[in-house]
Amino acid sequence: MNNKIFIFDTTLRDGEQVPGCQLNTIEKIEVALALEALGVDVLEAGFPISSPGDFKSVVEITKNIFNPTICALTRAVAADIDCAAEALKHAKRGRIHTGIGSSDIHIKNKLKTTREAILEKAAWATKYARNYVDDVEFFCEDAGRADLEFLAKMVETVIAAGATVVNIPDTTGYCLPEQYGAKIAYLMNNVPNIDKAILSAHCHNDLGMATANSMAALQNGARQVEVTMNGIGERAGNTSLEEIAMVLKSHEANLHLQCDINIKKIYPTSRLITRLMRMPVQPNKAIVGRNAFSHSSGIHQDGVLKNRENYEIINPHDVGVPESLIVLTARSGRAALKHRLEKLGLKWIKRN
Ligand code: KIV
Ligand code: ZN
Repeated sequence: MNNKIFIFDTTLRDGEQVPGCQLNTIEKIEVALALEALGVDVLEAGFPISSPGDFKSVVEITKNIFNPTICALTRAVAADIDCAAEALKHAKRGRIHTGIGSSDIHIKNKLKTTREAILEKAAWATKYARNYVDDVEFFCEDAGRADLEFLAKMVETVIAAGATVVNIPDTTGYCLPEQYGAKIAYLMNNVPNIDKAILSAHCHNDLGMATANSMAALQNGARQVEVTMNGIGERAGNTSLEEIAMVLKSHEANLHLQCDINIKKIYPTSRLITRLMRMPVQPNKAIVGRNAFSHSSGIHQDGVLKNRENYEIINPHDVGVPESLIVLTARSGRAALKHRLEKLGLKWIKRN
């Protein structure tokens, strides 16, 4: 099996849905250029039918971004798919991302239909989108809570209809990592035409398990992961790009999985998105939080000053963070104080 993991960034779609995070077209292009430089493989630029502004932004992104595939979201509705195809018409490589609910909760309570009708609509939407583009991703919404056998049937149906990627979203962030990983393994082993498409992990963070769930999916055969910078997204957010990139990098020797993220650009991109989206990052956020590389207790400070690796598994420079910080607190000891005095050009005189 191929070991390349495709990074599908949805900062400008699932991320931008967050109240207060809305960007204008110029800002979206600035973010898209940064994501391109960061090395994402697929950039979900928006949901064109949702507003004229979103439509225009998708068009402008296709005119300014050339390396990643540009993706546009739709419901399994002709007008949505027509609109996405129109928005993508200048794209060097365009992908339509269509889909519908797959759990009985969504089928009965939201879509008020039957499993049979869902399969028909899924096949129809995939074929309809394939009339416009060769690359169609199908999302089985709420797959995290869907019946496994039905989900397998749905995946088989959309692949037979021409889907190149099938997204298995844990829309509500409900799954445990072993459940989500087992779901992917089941699909890999029980969908007869699975070799014709790749499976994608799309996880939400309602129980704080989005990164763990996404990793479980990759370890069980998914080859695309859907992420946002800083983990922004609906409710508690989506899987964070920086966490996946650094888990893959830190455990490359065990996992044998790689992605093409230019990790040096992680921190600058995180700062750009924080600023443009006016969405502060929590201080203890992994990789990009203010405290991710700061040491405040005396024992840790002494250890880190002796050798950074005592308390840091990532070199901050590798992800573009200028330096680790030794913060003087009530729990700091002599090592930290001496370090600070030396930084200030003062001499530490040891008294007996
Ligand atoms: O969480 C979800 O199910 C989604 C789909 C629209 C892909 O964001
Ligand atoms: Zn989502």
